[in-house]
Amino acid sequence: MESMVELRQLRKTFGPIVAVDEVSFTVGQGEVLGFLGPNGAGKSTTMKMITGFLTPTGGTAKVNGFNIQEQPLEAKKSLGYLPEGAPAYGEMTPLSFLVFIAEMRGFRGAELDCRVAETMEKVNLEGVAHQPIDTLSKGFKRRVGLAQAIVHDPAVLILDEPTDGLDPNQKHEVRGLIRTMARDKAIILSTHVLEEVHAVCTRAMIIAKGKVITDGTPAELEARSRRHNAVILRLRGPLPDGVQAVLEGVPGVKRVEVIDEGLAEHEYRILPADGQPIISAISQCVHRQDWDVVELSVDRGHLDEVFRSLTMPAQALT
Ligand SMILES: Nc1ncnc2c1ncn2[C@@H]1O[C@H](COP(=O)(O)OP(=O)(O)OP(=O)(O)O)[C@@H](O)[C@H]1O
Ligand SMILES: [Mg+2]
Repeated sequence: MESMVELRQLRKTFGPIVAVDEVSFTVGQGEVLGFLGPNGAGKSTTMKMITGFLTPTGGTAKVNGFNIQEQPLEAKKSLGYLPEGAPAYGEMTPLSFLVFIAEMRGFRGAELDCRVAETMEKVNLEGVAHQPIDTLSKGFKRRVGLAQAIVHDPAVLILDEPTDGLDPNQKHEVRGLIRTMARDKAIILSTHVLEEVHAVCTRAMIIAKGKVITDGTPAELEARSRRHNAVILRLRGPLPDGVQAVLEGVPGVKRVEVIDEGLAEHEYRILPADGQPIISAISQCVHRQDWDVVELSVDRGHLDEVFRSLTMPAQALT
């Protein structure tokens, strides 16, 4: 796979603060890489260096084979960037702003009109085309930012929290748009919404204190969850005797946690030893009992739990 973005030991310090600490990776066409990490982890700073908005303290970033520091014009031709926050030029309207950006990108005449119209439609901006950007709501400002990043159909897209501030419908739309664009582009996005990683990313990277701490598919990350392949069992009616003991006797079961033992319903999480699948063994065991089963399901694992366990000190975890 041809690498469209290539970072080598990229580093950025602000005085004593090490914001990005020797980060190296490559991203190829068709990949959507999700940056996850706590506030202040260095996600935005990394993106600013890839896009040439910040000069690295050390290391290099290449876009489409061009070093962003040494050949910025060539690199930026294949680059679209949605920075954090709102786009500048608040007195312009989305339409005049997009026309301006398309002109800057070298489009003229009918092609320019076509690019702008297509982009306005893609991010649903037609309804506010003539309203000053300053007066738009947060979500619409975000969409203007996204529009300027994609108007020239770049091969590489860097999106800093693209769905931040969008309503659920728009989140859904923008995720769909990113998925559609992903086929022939290399995309890096940052997000605090872990479900977004499932929805759009082919690869997820957790960054903490300026360093990459994991890099894999969303499924690989989930497999690191303590709850990966755990089974959820929900029963109805009076509490049967010794439920926990029965379940703990099933081969492959490590422990049974009570999620809820109420008057009418009882819910358990059955954790496997070594993350191995236990659903069929549990299912056979449950069928031998005369329990009134309402739910029997497998937990794939929780990204938020993996995220917390990898980015928080052990004693702070509950
Ligand atoms: N211009 C600057 N001057 C000084 N420190 C900065 C500057 N920009 C960023 N930093 C510091 O660099 C570190 C990384 O910040 P960055 O914005 O990259 O984090 P982030 O991962 O994007 O966080 P968030 O999830 O909150 O957006 C933080 O400690 C931040 O305070
Ligand atoms: Mg940020």
